[in-house]
Amino acid sequence: MNHLHTLIKTCYLVALLIQVSCQSGPVEVNTERTYGVMAKDAVVSTAHPVATQVGLDILKQGGNAYDAAVAVQFALAVVYPRAGNIGGGGFLVYRKSNGEIGSLDFREKAPFAAHKDMYLDENEEVIEDLSTKGHLAAGVPGAVDGMIELHKKLGSLPFAQLIQPAIDIANQGVVLTKREAAKLNDHQDNFNEINDYTTHFAKVLPWNHGDTLRLPDLAQTLMLIKANGRAGFYEGTTANLIINEMERGGGIISLEDLKSYKSVWRDPIVGSYRDHKIITMGPPSSGGIALLQLLAGSEPHDIKKLGFNETTTIHLMTELERRVYADRATHLGDPDFYDVPQAMLLDPVYLKDRFSSISLDKKTSSQEIKEGEVALIESIETTHFSIVDAWGNAASITTTLNGSFGSKVLVKGAGFLLNNEMDDFSVKPGVPNMFGLIGAEANAIQPKKRMLSSMTPTIVEKNDSLYMVVGTPGGSTIITSVYQTLLNVIDHDMTMQEAVNVGKFHHQWLPDHVLYESDGIDSATLEALQLMGHVMKPVDAIGRMDCILVNQNQLEGASDGLRGDNTAMGY
Ligand code: GLY
Repeated sequence: MNHLHTLIKTCYLVALLIQVSCQSGPVEVNTERTYGVMAKDAVVSTAHPVATQVGLDILKQGGNAYDAAVAVQFALAVVYPRAGNIGGGGFLVYRKSNGEIGSLDFREKAPFAAHKDMYLDENEEVIEDLSTKGHLAAGVPGAVDGMIELHKKLGSLPFAQLIQPAIDIANQGVVLTKREAAKLNDHQDNFNEINDYTTHFAKVLPWNHGDTLRLPDLAQTLMLIKANGRAGFYEGTTANLIINEMERGGGIISLEDLKSYKSVWRDPIVGSYRDHKIITMGPPSSGGIALLQLLAGSEPHDIKKLGFNETTTIHLMTELERRVYADRATHLGDPDFYDVPQAMLLDPVYLKDRFSSISLDKKTSSQEIKEGEVALIESIETTHFSIVDAWGNAASITTTLNGSFGSKVLVKGAGFLLNNEMDDFSVKPGVPNMFGLIGAEANAIQPKKRMLSSMTPTIVEKNDSLYMVVGTPGGSTIITSVYQTLLNVIDHDMTMQEAVNVGKFHHQWLPDHVLYESDGIDSATLEALQLMGHVMKPVDAIGRMDCILVNQNQLEGASDGLRGDNTAMGY
């Protein structure tokens, strides 16, 4: 991947030089540029080629973007079990062809029996792994209710038609990609430790690329949902299997928790950046507020002139990020439980003051901004998909089990994984979660509360028309990846595919270091940033974007085939 990054950065810089030198003449299509899948009518971009194909088939059968989204969500639960799910949750941001916008919160909730100190021992120390592995780590799943609500409000084809492809694939089996086989092998010990029976994921010999993974129990559960709607999951056989699982592993999700789960239609957060309208997810995701704060802090600067991934650009963006993530830690949580000061956090006067301490010459220490603990990011799972249909309806969905394969609990007899989303709460003020994020009262555990998320499904309008559909997995790095991708297109004139491919970096206030993709920043820039005081930490990959750009009545579907098996298809 590193070679490819270098090549893409070089091509991008060459292309930019050609463009700049031709500024006075008409803009030519540049053969040096890297484009994603170009399509006239519709695009589906997801983390897995089979899920993308499922979405595309639904569109071709006359379904709209929301029908395709429901079909993709269920298909990902089968073909991409480490993050696709029915045992997790997520967020949708939508924009209909008539310009109507909205968002759906199908985030998991804390069970009724959850309490603030449930992951602490008698000395009030955090008990290792309790919020990340096993039955107690699971929040009440929201994905199935979310998909049923989405279909009810925005879908057009029969629900049975949308879930059928997932049922068929689960019955016939999924042919494993090299990456998915490796992921299953990596987690064999976890599956065996957490489950007291032999799961479908367990195997004596390693899984190989091309092996077929059959999931008959999951097919059965999907058939119950097909026949009974939400009751097929939140009541009856499936609910009882979840409760049996809770009893087996000391979990606390109850029948009442399942029956009472409801996803919520919320107003999306709307802002602007250089004449573009940004439509994104509000609390209980931190993504939208943080993204708009970052964009507001970037707007006064000539980012294009500063240059892509140049020293001052990275320094400035890092300084903005450390302040925005400090706000996240203190002020953001579930708005149904905590009075999130959204207006204040997005107020231009507040933001001007908040960013006024940034020096373009030297870094600010995170301790000067606010104190906290440090930790390393361990996992960046979650998955995002973007869809635009032939009518111009757009769906941007990010969905998650949290960690890779969630809690690793596979509900016996039901064949699906439960999330470990409880770790997204602040299990103890100031103690970092698996992403190194810290939190406080705003995101403390309370029964039935939703845990704070970083998921940032986003839609951009230009001249009142649909322009971009954007999103990515990556835990705490989701927000900064979406931020960089918007700047890459809007300020740095990249194609959607180039914006997805190029190297990313990330700072989240604490720990006080910049994570960066090894080949995304050249050595001179790296050295200059270190001289300014930044602690630079290379990582293999940040983000796996699935995005769509509308350009002169053409769609460009850009999926991250460098970092994942992500695939865009269109027609
Ligand atoms: N579980 C990752 C997130 O919601 O941010």
